[in-house]
Amino acid sequence: MSAVPKKASTEKTKTQSFYDSIAEVHNLALRVNGYRKSVAKYLRSLDLDIGADSFVLDGGSGTGIVTLGFQDAGFRPRQTIAFDLSAKSLHVARDEFKKEKKIDHKLISPVQGNILDLPFADDTFDLILSCGVLEYVTLDHGLREMSRVLKVGGKLVFIPVKPSLVGSVLEFLYKFKIHPVENVRKISQKYFKIVGNHKFPISEPMGWSKSIFLLEKNRPPNSKTR
Ligand SMILES: C[S@@+](CC[C@H](N)C(=O)[O-])C[C@H]1O[C@@H](n2cnc3c(N)ncnc32)[C@H](O)[C@@H]1O
Repeated sequence: MSAVPKKASTEKTKTQSFYDSIAEVHNLALRVNGYRKSVAKYLRSLDLDIGADSFVLDGGSGTGIVTLGFQDAGFRPRQTIAFDLSAKSLHVARDEFKKEKKIDHKLISPVQGNILDLPFADDTFDLILSCGVLEYVTLDHGLREMSRVLKVGGKLVFIPVKPSLVGSVLEFLYKFKIHPVENVRKISQKYFKIVGNHKFPISEPMGWSKSIFLLEKNRPPNSKTR
């Protein structure tokens, strides 16, 4: 088995054009702001059930900073899909993955498409990571779609932009819409159990604009085992 996409979208949206045009600069900015370290530190602190048979999705991977943080945390799943709307960002991501000596870049597959129409079968992934992406879409639709492709009992590490001064500046620069925290909680609970809500230390730049919700896909009613 492999998490091979059923189909790939080729339609170009405003958001895709925007990220295609800034991919390289955006990537440089991310390399220096410590996001990768913050993500790695947080993921290392979790007891994630990820092994050599696991499938992982970085939903809205951009240039791959979260995928790399995940690898830095020591996880080596069977396949990681770096999924994004922006083909150019995925090109940059692929180059970054190849530069890494400690990882096998062949086990990371960049796939282009829309997070609202994931080209994967139901219950495909053991873990989904998603950082700064659902601000571009309807939260309910995005979380529902991610829940669809996640296995029951699997985790979603959801890293939304939090309402804050820095968040508002990013909202303006990157043309997205921050979801109010109460909506994040309410809609998350429609599809998942909230098992954690992490605040990054304010000494880490990631703490200025992001928080983390650790979500677990609900078991269907009346099922007792995984
Ligand atoms: C702020 S960047 C975050 C990238 C990466 N997760 C990170 O933390 O560096 C937002 C990313 O979401 C992607 N994106 C926006 N809307 C999307 C959609 N509907 N489907 C897939 N990706 C999308 C953009 O192309 C961009 O790469």
